[in-house]
Amino acid sequence: MAEDIRRGLTSTPKDLSPWPKYLYDGEGSRLFEEITRLPEYYQTRTETSILRRRAEEIAARTGCEELVELGSGAAGEKTRLLLDALAARNGGRVRYAPLDVSGSALRKSGERLLREYPGLSIRGFVGDFEGPLGGLLVDDPGTPPRLVAFLGGTIGNFTPRRRLRFLRGLAAGLRPGDALLVGVDLVKDVETLEAAYNDRAGVTARFNRNLLRVINARLGGRFDPRLFEHRAPYVAGKSRVEMWLVSRAAQRVPVESLGISVSFAPGEGMRTEISTKFTPVSARRMLEEAGLRAAGFYTDEDRLFGLLLATPP
Ligand code: AVJ
Repeated sequence: MAEDIRRGLTSTPKDLSPWPKYLYDGEGSRLFEEITRLPEYYQTRTETSILRRRAEEIAARTGCEELVELGSGAAGEKTRLLLDALAARNGGRVRYAPLDVSGSALRKSGERLLREYPGLSIRGFVGDFEGPLGGLLVDDPGTPPRLVAFLGGTIGNFTPRRRLRFLRGLAAGLRPGDALLVGVDLVKDVETLEAAYNDRAGVTARFNRNLLRVINARLGGRFDPRLFEHRAPYVAGKSRVEMWLVSRAAQRVPVESLGISVSFAPGEGMRTEISTKFTPVSARRMLEEAGLRAAGFYTDEDRLFGLLLATPP
């Protein structure tokens, strides 16, 4: 973390967006859960509604017997919809392999699922999905086909290079018969996009500023979150919403563990997250660039959100 944050704080412009995982400490994860319930934040609701209508079709098309979920978080309704659909086709038997940075979230959700699904077996992995996925995607010809789910539009938080690297790694880990399901937020009118990241209740602003608290707590930073303004414009040229923290004053912020002091000019911004939006065409191109085969595209009536189905080459 120290090396990542040092690079981010010393680059021009200051840029922490290549490492979105630091937004999700306990408080950040709690705030994100709150974001998913905001009236302006259509993504979670919409993806869930697509799965409600299509999970059975996806299970039938892929014929998978195991759900591998990257970044499972609280393993809520979306996970259940997929598990239900896979279990229904396999006489109630289904395997679940979640990967998450939070061991406590894994244990809690795992225990609940085991009580609810008698035919379920789970192997959980603590880690982040940019690390090696070897344990998760064992290359054993004896294991049944797997549906690898990467939901929530999280793929949009990668920089283009990291996204390609990640998908290529995933493509290499898939075997014939496996399938990949990726949630992507879709390009739409600027008002809707910007409202989702500039909610009236100010939850996204708190989520954004929480990153400064994480740096304070873990690296001995002296950021005063009140001295930074939340901004989240849609940058049309890059098809993405960018979250920034803009300094309200000239200030120098020591970060003890890094042995540096970071200067901000008044109005100077630091990028904290990118959230890329796709079209059906750009989404397909992304899969193909990574050597995956686009096999399906599911969306809602208003074309707010998309689920891409892909198979190994
Ligand atoms: C993690 C992809 C679901 O980019 O929309 C929400 C994170 N950031 N509000 C997104 C986020 C600000 C979110 N995802």
